[in-house]
Amino acid sequence: MKPQASENPIENQAAEALGVPAGVTDIEFRGDIIYFIVVDRFHDGDPNNNAGLDPELHDPERKNWGKYWGGDLQGVIDKLDYLSGMGVTALWLTPLFEQVEAMVWDSAPIHGYWTRDFKRIHARWVSGQDEVRVFTRNDTTLDRLIADLHGREMKMVLDIVCNHSSPDASGVKGQLFDDGKLIADFHDDKNNWYHHYGPVQDWQSEWQVHNCELAGLATFNENNPDYRNYVKSAIRGWLKKGIDALRIDTVKHMPIWFWQEFTSDMVSERPDVFMFGEWIYSHPSDERSVEFANLSGMSILDFGLCTAIRAALGQGAERGFEEVVAIFDQDGKYRCATELVTFFENHDMPRLQSLGANESMLRLALTLILTCRGIPCLYYGVEQCLHDDTNGGNDPYNRPMMSSWDTSAPLYQLVQRLSRVRKGNIAVQFGSQWPRHLTPDVYCFSRQYRDARCFVALNRGGATLLERVQTDLPDGNHTCVLTGRTFTVRDGHVSGLELGAGEALVLAYDAAPSRGEAVVTFQVNGCPTQPGEYVAVLGNAPELGGWNEGQAFKLEYINGNTWQGGLALEQSAGKQITYKYAIFREDGEGGIPRRENRTTRRRMVPEAGAAKWRDIWEE
Ligand code: NOJ
Ligand code: CA
Repeated sequence: MKPQASENPIENQAAEALGVPAGVTDIEFRGDIIYFIVVDRFHDGDPNNNAGLDPELHDPERKNWGKYWGGDLQGVIDKLDYLSGMGVTALWLTPLFEQVEAMVWDSAPIHGYWTRDFKRIHARWVSGQDEVRVFTRNDTTLDRLIADLHGREMKMVLDIVCNHSSPDASGVKGQLFDDGKLIADFHDDKNNWYHHYGPVQDWQSEWQVHNCELAGLATFNENNPDYRNYVKSAIRGWLKKGIDALRIDTVKHMPIWFWQEFTSDMVSERPDVFMFGEWIYSHPSDERSVEFANLSGMSILDFGLCTAIRAALGQGAERGFEEVVAIFDQDGKYRCATELVTFFENHDMPRLQSLGANESMLRLALTLILTCRGIPCLYYGVEQCLHDDTNGGNDPYNRPMMSSWDTSAPLYQLVQRLSRVRKGNIAVQFGSQWPRHLTPDVYCFSRQYRDARCFVALNRGGATLLERVQTDLPDGNHTCVLTGRTFTVRDGHVSGLELGAGEALVLAYDAAPSRGEAVVTFQVNGCPTQPGEYVAVLGNAPELGGWNEGQAFKLEYINGNTWQGGLALEQSAGKQITYKYAIFREDGEGGIPRRENRTTRRRMVPEAGAAKWRDIWEE
């Protein structure tokens, strides 16, 4: 979903100067588990920053849900053993930028979405005012957090907002600073940094959604190049500090051309950055959100799947898992469904338990997103069943303070087990996903990639017996990583599969990933293959068979839109290669393979590291 790796040697040289080997693109996130933390509500590691500039905004009793409760980055550092022990590998933190110091609608910006300075960090998250000029130092709490994460091979996701700054607080609205210097003010907007069209009234009007205000927030005027340069240079500054990925707020509220410019700019700073946007209530049936996911240069949060899981496991929807599978059935609309970020709750909606899910439903939801296609994202505290049902658990009650750190909690251990599966199983990371048994109460599916397999069975109903289910696992005995139960597979099937009430089973069979100094993942969309056909890469590189059809590199089917394959290109490392995709028949009949009708593709293989080449089939 990101722009293709550059075929331009000048750009590759620029990337090299930044310390990323030429040709490297796309940090791989599909083996990762993201854990989303509301910084203020996780852990108070530094009580000295709690008073802030205005002590009135802090509630030491933690009773006023609109005030700060003291969580900070030191608190995250203090809990890294807890987090890495659970197997989460990436942290998404609510925005870190300096916020307005005010209460609006009975709430301070504890969430971090009311920025006053994108080039500074919020003093309440670090050791105070001495650390706010985060671009001028490399010894702040943020630097320590990033170093500690990277030392554990964990990644850091920064939440960013380009659409707006802050709402009106006692007559001050949208004052924006450039490392402390006032550069824009909504109420004195001499240089047109903001749109002034009032609130969105017609949500069907794309023009209004782009140009009018969401919830009274001062909305940036993206037509102003000074604004664009400011926000791009600010986020580049954060990438320079070692941020690995960006979660991007309110993407639906800005035109796609802005995002295309923005994502290209970020990639030129960090060729391997991973980006995903919040297109609120995106859905595979909503053409605009699909178009955004395919063309903006970033992936998106999978709200369609989130809604279906909440219905099936939180609200007892009659169609149950059929609603969930109806989402997967549309995966072919996306160019990279395996990079959608999957979740079932967040800081803007009641937690699943507040909807009525008990712990066993939560266990099913976690098992599903940790094994299905996409990159799973857990909302902090889910592993401790953290929830507060006041007012149905709606905002702000979906943001309680983390209170238990029990590493023997059943869901903590569930995540731990499934994180090992995700890390070691390439079928779970990016394989195809096949339904093998589906009723409203029971969903069995298998994931497949090369020889790797993973079979998952989920039962939201009472105890049941399935006569014979296709698992696609190799014949023999397989032990469930969650229950320790052993199952015998014959002809790829399990007979007499007993599922207890609310039970989840996961049977994983691993296969080695492509390893090497330089590994290229080929991904091609839109190949017009028919059953019995496959896609392979032909090319001049020796690893691709030197245009010899008999030695072309065979790709894996992911879904109706996507074929993918990772290949170590040792002999071609650091060299330019040429290639083309072609459709072959499994039975070898049908004459010569059908090649793409275009000039031969040409790219630089990285000298070392990984690259993902995202291509579209051309007729
Ligand atoms: C979406 C964020 O998730 C939400 O928490 C925030 O209030 C709005 N965008 C506005 O930034
Ligand atoms: Ca604190």
